[in-house]
Amino acid sequence: MTKLVGISGSLRRSSYNTALLRAAAGLMPEGADLAIHTIRDIPLYDGDAEAASGIPAPVSALKDAIAAADGLLLVTPEYNNSIPGVFKNAIDWLSRPAADIPRVFRQKPVALIGASPGPFGTILSQAAWLPVFRTLGVTFWSEGRLLVSRAGTVFDQAGALTDAKIKEQLATFLRGFVAFAQSSRRDG
Ligand SMILES: Cc1cc2nc3c(=O)[nH]c(=O)nc-3n(C[C@H](O)[C@H](O)[C@H](O)COP(=O)(O)O)c2cc1C
Repeated sequence: MTKLVGISGSLRRSSYNTALLRAAAGLMPEGADLAIHTIRDIPLYDGDAEAASGIPAPVSALKDAIAAADGLLLVTPEYNNSIPGVFKNAIDWLSRPAADIPRVFRQKPVALIGASPGPFGTILSQAAWLPVFRTLGVTFWSEGRLLVSRAGTVFDQAGALTDAKIKEQLATFLRGFVAFAQSSRRDG
């Protein structure tokens, strides 16, 4: 079984990105599983709090989940043509302490998708993640690309993905990423 961890970068109840992540979990290829995790309980990064109290429990739990997974799928919104602060904040906490970065991130297969109600489908936000990935030493899977634009037209009121073309693109993306994560496993 190839195990992925998936994280949405939005806290909004009706988030398109969280809806996209849920759709991904339902479209995983056979023999693979996508566990949805949340950044909701991760506090704002504060170096004083880290020095006084160490790594918060929700951060440690998510770090362990990523370390144990064969791959990580990030579903990113775009704010002001870049990464939303809440999402970057979560990744910043997950990169602490720096000595733990190799365990959690180094050579971890990572894929990125995103949804926006606008016409460009998070293209600038996705590009803004690249220096972060390089810094953490992840193995970014760049073969597939999924930019969900005009998100208001591809999900129904309940947040289900209803657009057949996007569904097919998402399933194809997931097949490619799962194959990559599977082939990157140290045990083969
Ligand atoms: C502060 C802020 C800045 C935004 N900037 C962008 C942007 O640069 N590009 C874009 O496509 N959408 C932008 N949006 C719109 C978001 O794409 C939209 O709110 C989207 O629904 C957020 O993702 P979510 O549905 O997963 O919460 C912005 C929204 C906010 C709140």
